[in-house]
Amino acid sequence: MRWFSHRAAVAAASVLSIATQSQVAVAESVNGNAVVANGTSFALNGDNVSYIFHIDPATGDLISDHFGGSVTGAIPAAAEPIVNGWVGATGRIRREFPDQGRGDFRIPAVRIRQSAGYTISDLQYQSHTIVQGKPGLPGLPATFGSEEDVTTLVVHLHDNYSSVAADLSYSIFPKSDAIVRSVNITNLGEGNVTIDALSSLSVDLPYEELEMIYLRGDWAREAHRERRKVEYGVQGFGSSTGFSSHLHNPFLSLVHPSTTESQGEAWGFSLVYTGSFAVNVEKGSQGFTRALLGFNPSQLSWTLRPGETLTSPECVSVYSATGIGGMSRSLHRLYRKHLIKSKFATSDRPALLNSWEGLDASINASNVYQLAEESAKLGIKLLVMDDGWFGNEYPRDDDTAGLGDWQVNQAKFPDGLGTLVNNVTALKAANTSTPLRFGIWVEPEMVNPNSTLYHEHPDWALHAGDYPRSLSRNQLVLNVALSEVQEFIIDSMTRLLKSADISYVKWDHNRGIHEMPSPSTDHAYMLGLYHVFETLTSRFPDVLWEGCASGGGRFDPGVLQYFPQIWTSDDTDGGERVAIQMGTSLAYPPSAMGAHISAVPNQQSSRSVPVEFRGHVAMMGGSFGLELNPEELHEDEKAALPALIQLAEKVNPIVLEGDMWRLALPEETNWPAVLFISADGTKAVLFAFQMRANIDNSSPWVRLEGLDAKAEYRVDGGSVYTGQTLMSMGLQFVFEGDYQSRVVMLDRV
Ligand code: GLA
Repeated sequence: MRWFSHRAAVAAASVLSIATQSQVAVAESVNGNAVVANGTSFALNGDNVSYIFHIDPATGDLISDHFGGSVTGAIPAAAEPIVNGWVGATGRIRREFPDQGRGDFRIPAVRIRQSAGYTISDLQYQSHTIVQGKPGLPGLPATFGSEEDVTTLVVHLHDNYSSVAADLSYSIFPKSDAIVRSVNITNLGEGNVTIDALSSLSVDLPYEELEMIYLRGDWAREAHRERRKVEYGVQGFGSSTGFSSHLHNPFLSLVHPSTTESQGEAWGFSLVYTGSFAVNVEKGSQGFTRALLGFNPSQLSWTLRPGETLTSPECVSVYSATGIGGMSRSLHRLYRKHLIKSKFATSDRPALLNSWEGLDASINASNVYQLAEESAKLGIKLLVMDDGWFGNEYPRDDDTAGLGDWQVNQAKFPDGLGTLVNNVTALKAANTSTPLRFGIWVEPEMVNPNSTLYHEHPDWALHAGDYPRSLSRNQLVLNVALSEVQEFIIDSMTRLLKSADISYVKWDHNRGIHEMPSPSTDHAYMLGLYHVFETLTSRFPDVLWEGCASGGGRFDPGVLQYFPQIWTSDDTDGGERVAIQMGTSLAYPPSAMGAHISAVPNQQSSRSVPVEFRGHVAMMGGSFGLELNPEELHEDEKAALPALIQLAEKVNPIVLEGDMWRLALPEETNWPAVLFISADGTKAVLFAFQMRANIDNSSPWVRLEGLDAKAEYRVDGGSVYTGQTLMSMGLQFVFEGDYQSRVVMLDRV
């Protein structure tokens, strides 16, 4: 039997390993050498990254050659696999789109059930096309860019036995070192097929010792960073809640064990999707590491009738040779410029006051106006009226009623919404001629059984036959997959936004899905939701939209396509927020984070953190604000707010557009620190924190990163130091007590 000829195989492999593949010929080239293809090999090149694969002439399979630092000239060929034992060659090589049932025993990227019941596929290369720019994805959010920004390679595969076609679409953003992949599966046969599993990205890295970094949490405890060794076998995470969820985020990083924030190789993978998802990492018997990101197979079962196509969400992959920080900055830049469509992506985020923690749902025209007056006096520019303003037959006095009835409550607002908004927008923020803007909270995908909507349309709520419709926060989820539900949401939100001068909408979403009519409802819901988001955000481009899902339950790139900011967490404790915001920044730009100062003791943690610390943490988010009733504050806290608001406004442009450097992590030190450097490098702002008093200890030095070594910087309008000195030596901070913080401005001289 063949596996007894082990020695011969090793000898053959060593000969092959010194052979070289001829360089991928430049047969078609756009955007310099961004995509290079010769019909059998393909290379995608960014400023600091190359992604290379080729077609196996014998099998038509796509074989991965390299994803990592730039590769130039000829590339060495991978050794032929040593085939002994039960696992054949297919199971021992690095594959671009691993299918199921033909001897690759690792986890597949696609599982298609044919009408005869087979779940085998044999997808072979057929042809490819290269497109300048990047075509949109039908019905799904997607990164975008001009012909100069991005080039797309589409590889067409076909299974001659089942007549199923798969198009793998790879777009390269050379300046961001980012490769974006999505997959189309088309049924060209005569019977139905069912897609049971589909990953947007599957990548086989040739390294045996890797670690995985990901985000986990729960309500009010989002985005906690985890790092662990990739072990043999499959390990993974995901969401089956119907949404991206607090529990895990659709983001994965793979790193070498020695990689740190600022050194070493890091790969970042980010799925542009808001629904249930799955991430799997498998170290196979032969040592390679496979990673898959895509649909959650337990919530797919997608039937394709003849001629139909399923498009996967896209997955962004970035590569960094400058550590985990470099990986995050690539994702941040890409998302700021090439994902978030809003005109507010990097500008004009007014300091706001949100009524939720201050007034709860007990709001009315008079206390909201009073809140607006107090806000204006402090220098706030936007008053947001949160939950509690709607429902007449079933008034929204608490969370047991009203969702679905998007008319202003006449008892609480006897003169109507328009009058309140006019009164609020007639106020001017302190010492300015800037009129206050008005924002409103909605939760349009939901319905309370205690609502007029539910009594009129009980069938619009998601349900599975006669199974009980289980409540969560006393509410049910509308089936946004239904076109009549989409129209209802679009119409009711359009009516609301036309009824008054509303500049901001907080779009909330406060439960997961249970009792789905079918597993595929999950994705059908998402397609409906994206249609609603696309319609409303294009119809109201001047509205600043904020996403929210019980805090950060839907902090994902899918939502960011439409909403430039997301409420990061219902946990507003300044101490906890350091970790939550720094965790979120692994994948998402700080510009996208909503972060507010709330009252103490904190409603979630019962902890009292000084107002300066709360303020400094909140101004690291692109959307800074207050979440309190100023009337209930201690005098000294209230007195501190105007200066904190002014400081937040000063640092905000740097946070919105600049690069973030995580200098020290809260999970590793008592002194976390973050530096933001403006896009043009002329300004920077340093945040330094002490979490707990450390009595009689030496005071910490914070070493900066990312500065121009030769340039000089004035520190807080005083001393001038070179970038080299600030990076080699740093600045020392003397803190006393728990939760102390400093914000330091640097100006390049
Ligand atoms: C969710 C949000 C909060 C607030 C409440 C209102 O929990 O995350 O910010 O809007 O709903 O009910």
